[in-house]
Amino acid sequence: MSKIPFGPTYDEMLHPNLIDPELRKKVQLAKHNELDELNLFNITWKNEKQEVNHIILPKEMTGVDANIIVLVGKYFPSGSHKVGPAYSTLIEGCVDHDIIPGKHTILGPSTGNFGIGVSYICNLMKLDSIVIMPDNMSKERYDRILKYGAKLDLTPGTESDVILTLERTYKLKENPNYRSLAQFELLPNYRFHRHVTGNSAIEVVKNIGNGRIACFASAPGSAGTLAAGDQIKHVFPEAKIVALEPYECSTLMNGGKGQHRIEGIGDKMCTLIHNVLNTDFISLIEDEDTVKGLKIIHDAPHILVEYGVDPHTAKQMVDMFGVSTICNIIGSIKMAKYLKLGPEDNIVTVATDGYDRYNSVIENLNHRVLETEDFVLRRWFKDIFLKADTEHIIDTRVSSEKERLYKQKEHDWLKFGYSKAYLDQMKSMDFWNHEYDKVNYYNEKIKELRGKNI
Ligand SMILES: Cc1ncc(COP(=O)(O)O)c(C=O)c1O
Repeated sequence: MSKIPFGPTYDEMLHPNLIDPELRKKVQLAKHNELDELNLFNITWKNEKQEVNHIILPKEMTGVDANIIVLVGKYFPSGSHKVGPAYSTLIEGCVDHDIIPGKHTILGPSTGNFGIGVSYICNLMKLDSIVIMPDNMSKERYDRILKYGAKLDLTPGTESDVILTLERTYKLKENPNYRSLAQFELLPNYRFHRHVTGNSAIEVVKNIGNGRIACFASAPGSAGTLAAGDQIKHVFPEAKIVALEPYECSTLMNGGKGQHRIEGIGDKMCTLIHNVLNTDFISLIEDEDTVKGLKIIHDAPHILVEYGVDPHTAKQMVDMFGVSTICNIIGSIKMAKYLKLGPEDNIVTVATDGYDRYNSVIENLNHRVLETEDFVLRRWFKDIFLKADTEHIIDTRVSSEKERLYKQKEHDWLKFGYSKAYLDQMKSMDFWNHEYDKVNYYNEKIKELRGKNI
């Protein structure tokens, strides 16, 4: 007999105080044992005090007047917010009876963090899982996936070769006992981020600046996180949504060629779940800047202090960010300048994960650049953060740009069996709102069925 896993609704992930108080106490204790299945209820941006985990970046580091607020994802179980889409896709599959625990093996096509999330969730829910990912990602990613008990199925390449993982997943899916948590195409990823991340962002700015969001910037991998922008724009229609891409391999801006070092993003496709209607700008960030920027924050907080950053904040940030976070931070600084935002304006962005999976990336940087004395790091700090410029930003609000992005989506998805008619529906906000409204249905269904036999 199989059971539907016992886990939270979308509303409980957004507002953990909706969880029964007795259960909530146990859920807090579960944090001490990451493999306790009650940690499913710790899939939330909120801490014990019901505050969204975030940091307002010091202006001595950003060099701009606008408030740049980073939602901090490393406190999610498994160390990144990607566990949210993994759980949401799995639980929706279970309540729809498409995934039967005990019968089906779960596939997680990924470049790392989603795979870590899938292997972690499957461990808690006692499901077998296979993570399909490129063979050249950071070592720390593979270690975690194996630690959580998933099998690895590696395809050649790096972040920019993610298409090979999709092709491999499609092949594996021919086995009727396999079910894929297809983050690039399934809408629970959209629902999680629009509902949980979007509304958490809206909540976090309540007492900052003018209490609104002028800009949301995020570097898409699956583009799930960008869905938060749809909710932000729903509440603050003036908000600008910005997709950030690696300069060395931009797809949305330039059609996708090249290799890059920003793990988790820049996957050479316009993902199916990316609502390009709401993407107002695309901006490119140089990959080496993101790795160097991470090194400064992690290895040289004293340099930030020299530039006036409060020592406590510099220390707090040491382990808080990963490489893609630095991409998001640089992109936010660029947009603050481009949009000429002032001290009352808020830009929100996201730290998907923390430093724990990038030691090997920084070691590799140290080997490549040889000189990393303070005078070098000081120069990097100024050039990367304070002097971030407004180059390589395009405005995608015009219809010709939207058409170009739709064409990219068709190029990427018709070959996987999606019809032109389905893709055409995505050209209307009605499609996305209709998909978002299903959150209410799944809230009820999860509540009704969790822990029950199927
Ligand atoms: C480190 C990192 N940053 C950013 C992203 C992009 O997030 P999303 O897939 O929601 O676009 C990912 C996705 O896996 C990631 O692992």
